[in-house]
Amino acid sequence: MTTADPSTPPDDPYLAPRAVDDLSTCAFNHTIDLPGHGTVEGAWDLRAGLDAYLGGVAVAGKRVLDFGATSGFLGFAMEARGAEVVAYDFAGEAVWEMVPYPDFERAVIAPEIRNHLHRFENAWWYAHAALDSRARRAGGSLYGVPEAVGPVDVAVLGNALTRLRDPFRALHGVLRLTRETVVVTEMLPKSLHLLRFLPRSLGLPVFLLPRSNQRIRFDAWWTIAPTTMQELLAILGFGESAVTYHRQTLLGQKRLCYTVVARRTEPTNPEL
Ligand SMILES: C[S@@+](CC[C@H](N)C(=O)[O-])C[C@H]1O[C@@H](n2cnc3c(N)ncnc32)[C@H](O)[C@@H]1O
Repeated sequence: MTTADPSTPPDDPYLAPRAVDDLSTCAFNHTIDLPGHGTVEGAWDLRAGLDAYLGGVAVAGKRVLDFGATSGFLGFAMEARGAEVVAYDFAGEAVWEMVPYPDFERAVIAPEIRNHLHRFENAWWYAHAALDSRARRAGGSLYGVPEAVGPVDVAVLGNALTRLRDPFRALHGVLRLTRETVVVTEMLPKSLHLLRFLPRSLGLPVFLLPRSNQRIRFDAWWTIAPTTMQELLAILGFGESAVTYHRQTLLGQKRLCYTVVARRTEPTNPEL
């Protein structure tokens, strides 16, 4: 039996601050400039395209949720623009939902993923100290952002939803805590670039990413057309939205992304 720490309120959703000063224990998902350390490289470099990635939303003075924060670049960048930031990502035993192909060795991969997530979290604390940040980090399953994290004015969901088996459920969990604006940015695979020209009248598609004959993608589930994303947001009470397109750098290559910015027009129904 474990004894609860009497200094931590039972409904406190935030992770206890940790001192991480060994860069070798960290994994940076984004390239980030850290005072006293210089530039630390990550797979994504969003520095030049930050405005586009955030859909041009002004965050100064807003309470913002950085959903799927990984090592934190987006949240720290929004904090630099005057936002109060809560970063949220997997923590503890929670782990990505991997595609269960018949020969997929979950027992082997899951501990590796957990280790990877832990290294992202280390990087977040490392950057947090270097930037003298006041951002807070909460964690658990992406389906279960705790009520106590909200309310937030702005929720930013960058390239996270389509990695989940049930993006609608995750979106609902976040939007019930979001007062004003949601920003959803997703990458479009090359084969689906034409989605930017898809008229709404042709339907609102979602595309499956995993393939039984390749079994390469075990960590991503869907491509959601921008129009479909707008509709999902409208169903959840964010009825005014606009889509923009931009290219961002992933491993040195430019990738087409879309961003939907949606404003709340109605309350989110709390029932799922
Ligand atoms: C590429 S990172 C996004 C980082 C940041 N929000 C951004 O916009 O660049 C993907 C996010 O989705 C989460 N995620 C959920 N399921 C995942 C999966 N199956 N594979 C990879 N990432 C997954 C990760 O924990 C992380 O928060």
